[in-house]
Amino acid sequence: MKTHRIALYPGDGIGTEVVAATVPVLDAVASITGRFDLSYESFDWGMAHYDRHGRVAPEDFLDVLRGFDAIFLGAVGWPARLPDHITLTPLIRLRQAFDLYACVRPARTFPGVVGPLRRSDPIDVVVVRENSEGEYIDNGGLFATGTAQEVAVQTALHTRRGVERILRFSFALARTRRHTLTMITKSNAQRYSYVLWDRVLAELAPEFPDVRTDKLHIDAATLELVRRPHTFDVIVGSNLFGDILSDLTGGITGSLGLNPSANLNPERTTPSLFEPVHGSAPDIAGKGVANPTGAMLSGAMMLEWLGEADAATLVRDAVEQTLAAGVATPDIGGLTTTAQFTDAVLGRLRQG
Ligand code: NAI
Ligand code: MG
Repeated sequence: MKTHRIALYPGDGIGTEVVAATVPVLDAVASITGRFDLSYESFDWGMAHYDRHGRVAPEDFLDVLRGFDAIFLGAVGWPARLPDHITLTPLIRLRQAFDLYACVRPARTFPGVVGPLRRSDPIDVVVVRENSEGEYIDNGGLFATGTAQEVAVQTALHTRRGVERILRFSFALARTRRHTLTMITKSNAQRYSYVLWDRVLAELAPEFPDVRTDKLHIDAATLELVRRPHTFDVIVGSNLFGDILSDLTGGITGSLGLNPSANLNPERTTPSLFEPVHGSAPDIAGKGVANPTGAMLSGAMMLEWLGEADAATLVRDAVEQTLAAGVATPDIGGLTTTAQFTDAVLGRLRQG
């Protein structure tokens, strides 16, 4: 039997709570299908590590992770104690060093969950975020820091190779879905970077005649995703725009707590990383009420990536049935705790 080796990186706040809720669900489907085992090693990186060692992750954390089949992360960040740009550094470094260039963030409406838009058309979109370059590379500097003349320079980087590979990935994904790809830029105002995106899209489109392509600027996209979200299928954008839009798609489908994500190295030269879209939610951390749906569905994405599609389907079905039955954490209007939600999902799995 195959054993998949998983690195657990629960992180901070509700990150630890949603990881603790997901592991038993993954174990349950492994034992139900009887086709694979999961072995875990858990790392205390984040504030816990910082308190003991003065840094959020050890220097060699990338080497430690390289040997695993996949990485499962909760969330990192505790802004009241440490600035976010410090706590989030390992995560951003990981995405870049492991070339996890395709960040895939599905968002959909679930029967049983009422979204904020009060409309009946189901939403089913996937935001593909370029995850390795763009606006988030560490490229800039400060001048005359702390003075009235202070200057900050931060320059985005967009390469033809980077743009082409994320667009190819998105076209291929659209082919497995409703054959519609919308690219988000701001090429009317950012005249170099996003004009390159426009050109590469135009070059690639003829290779995918079965995929309808569309383009929107980021400002219009935020409007249209509220006005006609059901018309979108695959949405692709740069690191910054993909980040923004995936919070929006999370919001319009009901709660950020529902949304999973995968940070993929499609060439599989490094372990890919799976994590809910949400952060560490200090406002509800420690109360036992975090919605573990996004984490559990991230677990399903991880199983699928590891070749366990049947097990992934079992997780998705059990989570969907649980939501449809009205089992709801406070973020989606209920009173259920994280532990009760997890028990309900496990109960569905055992019923078959
Ligand atoms: P957040 O996603 O942690 O929370 C935003 C709002 O959504 C809060 O009101 C929170 O209670 C709610 N929420 C989020 N996930 C939920 C869940 N599973 N169940 C119920 N409610 C949920 O974003 P925020 O507050 O901007 O950031 C908090 C910290 O998390 C910061 O340090 C931030 O940098 C970090 N962060 C980390 C991410 C990561 O690890 N990938 C991603 C986003 C933020
Ligand atoms: Mg974000």
